[in-house]
Amino acid sequence: MPLHTDTLARLRRRTGTLLLLALASLALPAVARDLARIDSPGKVLSVVLEARHEGRLAYRLERNGETVIAPSPLGMLLGDGRLERNLELVGQSRSSFDETWEQPWGERRLTRNHYNELRAAFAEKGVGERPGRRFEVVFRVYDDGIGFRYEFPQQPNGASEVRIRGELTGFAVAGTATAWWLPAFEWNRAEYLYTHTPLSEVATVQTPLTLRTDRGLHLSIHEAALVDYAGMNLARGDGGVLRAALTPGDDHGAAVVRSVPFHTPWRTIQVGEDAGDLAESSLILNLNEPNRLGDVSWFKPAKYVGVWWSLHLDTETWATGPRHGATTANTKRYIDFAAANGFRGVLVEGWNPGWDGDWFANGWDFDFTRPVPGFDLEALAAYAAGKGVHLVGHHETACAVSHYERQLPAALDLYARHGVDVVKTGYVCDAGDIQRQDHEDGPVLREWHEGQWMSRHHQRVVEEAARRRIAVNSHEPIKDTGLRRTWPNWVSREGARGMEYNAWGQPPNPPGHEATLVFTRMLGGPMDFTPGIVSLKGRGGQPIQSTLAKQLALYVVIYSPIQMVADLPEHYAQHPQAFQFIKDVAVDWEQSRVLNGEVGQYATIVRQARGSGEWFLGSVGGDQARALQVSLSFLDPGRDYRAEIYRDGAHAHWQSAPFEFERQVRQVRSTDTLDLHLAAGGGQAIRFVPM
Ligand code: NOJ
Ligand code: CA
Repeated sequence: MPLHTDTLARLRRRTGTLLLLALASLALPAVARDLARIDSPGKVLSVVLEARHEGRLAYRLERNGETVIAPSPLGMLLGDGRLERNLELVGQSRSSFDETWEQPWGERRLTRNHYNELRAAFAEKGVGERPGRRFEVVFRVYDDGIGFRYEFPQQPNGASEVRIRGELTGFAVAGTATAWWLPAFEWNRAEYLYTHTPLSEVATVQTPLTLRTDRGLHLSIHEAALVDYAGMNLARGDGGVLRAALTPGDDHGAAVVRSVPFHTPWRTIQVGEDAGDLAESSLILNLNEPNRLGDVSWFKPAKYVGVWWSLHLDTETWATGPRHGATTANTKRYIDFAAANGFRGVLVEGWNPGWDGDWFANGWDFDFTRPVPGFDLEALAAYAAGKGVHLVGHHETACAVSHYERQLPAALDLYARHGVDVVKTGYVCDAGDIQRQDHEDGPVLREWHEGQWMSRHHQRVVEEAARRRIAVNSHEPIKDTGLRRTWPNWVSREGARGMEYNAWGQPPNPPGHEATLVFTRMLGGPMDFTPGIVSLKGRGGQPIQSTLAKQLALYVVIYSPIQMVADLPEHYAQHPQAFQFIKDVAVDWEQSRVLNGEVGQYATIVRQARGSGEWFLGSVGGDQARALQVSLSFLDPGRDYRAEIYRDGAHAHWQSAPFEFERQVRQVRSTDTLDLHLAAGGGQAIRFVPM
């Protein structure tokens, strides 16, 4: 029989010695009682809810009977005190769901959403003056992961508002594990190189957090449907348990203020045998609400070109002057280049007033409602339209976000009038330095990129844009939690170190960076990585740590429905063979599969294009050369395909021979296997055309 608190109290009275108490408590089995259990549809994963000492609440996660997440706390740090003890289960219900839904665009057309749900209602015993509070915890258990969230109904004390200072949610990963992580709350937001360490060395990190347990299981802890709430980070605390660390807000100590009823985002744990299972999982999308926009066929997944790489190379400027990139003549040149090669979009940054001088510091000077004199928006839009090309808009806020919000309707109207149906937004400033001004003459407050206030801001931008049939590609964004399912005009984001670091080169991205992104950042959703730098050089000729073939592979490996053909037209002219793949590669997919991969070392992904029946393969490696064998069993059986193979040459190496490159054409079938050779810093890209 377990030793209860009152038995302990009696013991203490009898012995009067603290020492004995200490010894007794060390030997104590945890006083826990299972309250409810729910299995995934295929009985792979199970969640057990436990009542623990002092009426606390915990959950644990098992995979095929083995503990993956040991008992971990649930609870909230509210404005009126910790919501953690004296909790009593007052109701529970279960349900199952199985539906296959269709993405209007995406890395797969059909997605199965199959889970079992447990809803558990808790009432807190009142403490002193404070009446007890109520909440529910909802678990959705899939074969490849779980999501759980808190729901707050009307409260017994009649309060209409809940102030959340923090969450007490924990994730006690069982056993030891290796973690791939980005630090949280550091100035450069999500734009750090991933570090991998034992989990026991993790401090405070962003999500998605990727883990490989010493048994070889792969886990990812993240969140889904981050709406009107603060983003969750993870801080390692007592006993090594990871704790939800909510992004603060400038609201008198509360990270989140919400009116009841409301629910939190889903806290998610993906579990797979190998790294590829994480990348193939649709858990995050499945936990988001269905499409609220209806028909979004006006959004066309597409490739785009533009004035961008030269700005980062510093050969052209955002600012007006002799090297201004966004001139009418230069933009026409890009429109011609796009039209000649079948690319739909032309991005022009530096088209509007505000870039002259120190734009980082002067976000309040940006005007989004008119172009600078040297950029004839009217004429360019007409010129582009005549060639079937669309300008891609650009709104850099430099974090003067309230200033941007005031102009937002007019700014989007201007774009809508000119056929601009994708806008790239930007929030360049240090983390925690977003500028919020609630009233024109009011104080300027500081917010975080991932706080509740920014979650509301992005929501507003996406909804205003959707009303005008404009898609949004946010840079320096709030993290991706799968909201593209609900608002399919939120098509892509940055939110990691992209190609621009290879232009600046301080230092450039290392060879294993993309094979890390696939199993970390990409678990959130599409990334506007801006691949295709066939010149393989940054500013001042600094080498990019990639071979030519790898730049092609990135179009398949790093998913985004809008992909930049990021290098300069004159550079593509020097690499016609490689350029052919970039022209041919699809951007919208019927299905996607991960053939192999290890976090940070390599990843091979195949995707079937929607409509054409063509397949594409992309494989990226790390800093060591690697040989991989892949089965072509994904191809339609009994059919012949022409494989157009773009591979590293025998002596290719990112440092000594980055341009050594071969194109081969072979006839293949689903019963064949292919040997892939990846150079150090290399990759391979293949187009399979049904014959
Ligand atoms: C940062 C973005 O990531 C980059 O793509 C853009 O060119 C600059 N901000 C300027 O807006
Ligand atoms: Ca950036």
